[in-house]
Amino acid sequence: MSSTTTTFDDPLSQRYHGKHILAPMVRVGTLPMRMLALKYGADLVYTPEIIDKRIVKAQRRVNPTTGIIEYVNDNDTVDLQIHPREKPYVIFQVGTSDPDLALEAALKVASDVSGIDVNCGCPKKFSIQGGMGAALLTDPERLEAILKKLVDHSGLPVTCKIRLLDNDADTLALVQRIEKTGVKALAVHCRTRNERPRDRGHWDKLKMVAEAVRTIPVIANGDVFTYDHLLRVKEECGVSSAMVARGAMENPSMFSKDGLVDAKIVAQEYISLAVLVNNRFQNTKYTLMQMYNNTKSTAYQNLTRAKNHDGIMKAFGLKEMLKITVPKLEIEPNTSALSSST
Ligand code: FNR
Repeated sequence: MSSTTTTFDDPLSQRYHGKHILAPMVRVGTLPMRMLALKYGADLVYTPEIIDKRIVKAQRRVNPTTGIIEYVNDNDTVDLQIHPREKPYVIFQVGTSDPDLALEAALKVASDVSGIDVNCGCPKKFSIQGGMGAALLTDPERLEAILKKLVDHSGLPVTCKIRLLDNDADTLALVQRIEKTGVKALAVHCRTRNERPRDRGHWDKLKMVAEAVRTIPVIANGDVFTYDHLLRVKEECGVSSAMVARGAMENPSMFSKDGLVDAKIVAQEYISLAVLVNNRFQNTKYTLMQMYNNTKSTAYQNLTRAKNHDGIMKAFGLKEMLKITVPKLEIEPNTSALSSST
């Protein structure tokens, strides 16, 4: 079956077909990175995983200066920012082990996002101990209960992002159970729970899953680093769509069919957007250190010493913010448009 000619009867599933997608990334996939990914051609962007309880207790507000929608917790910690025009493209990823809390979290953000995704792949101790992330891979009853609750009551298209299990039969049994819950698409990170990023992803298993799951789009994730890989993984594995984490973190212009943009320019664009939306400084610095990991450069050396956004701008020789155009968000070169777009 050719991935490009496939159609899905359900229009909500069709929305996940033929797409290039920014993967969920804690710290990295905050608003400025999602804006850059959209600028360079991503069709859908996932928020970083946020734990259900955290979003449930957050206050929603519209920032009076920037017009950005913000979910704020104690001590004015902004846990999530969404651009007012981001809704058609943004999927909220929740970390959960509880159907009721998952639903509460989904309902909280429902008016600002286009879908909800359940993280079933995080191998970190915090997630596993709480029965979340990759723990759900071996607790399919709980996973089904969460997905069905969301499907039946959230009013949003529901998806989940899994890893592979240790043997193919278990993986296939799991994906077929997930398919029956009514989710609109399934993202598969083609590594097992114990495999690390340096271990090669198993594209052959993506093909296996795509052949088994026929009624909803399969989104391939793992070792897609270039625009060419985006096309190849769809073609070679017969999947609907492709999702990128580290490749986009290093240079979000990888989504562009017109070729990579120079890393320093992309870093300057990222900084400009981070300053514009008042991204959390620690996230800006962390992301830039991954993105611009030219460790011997003066910019990187100065970045390591930066204590605030001004310091970061200086490290990259930016006297003023660049004017960025993101047509999907209707942000034109005059970035001040942002503040009037509520
Ligand atoms: C991740 N990943 C991840 N996955 C997820 O489901 N929710 C998350 O919040 C995160 N956070 C996160 C942060 C960072 C910095 C990285 C690098 C990765 C995993 C990610 O979405 C993806 O599944 C893997 O990185 C494999 O894809 P790539 O990197 O090979 O494209």
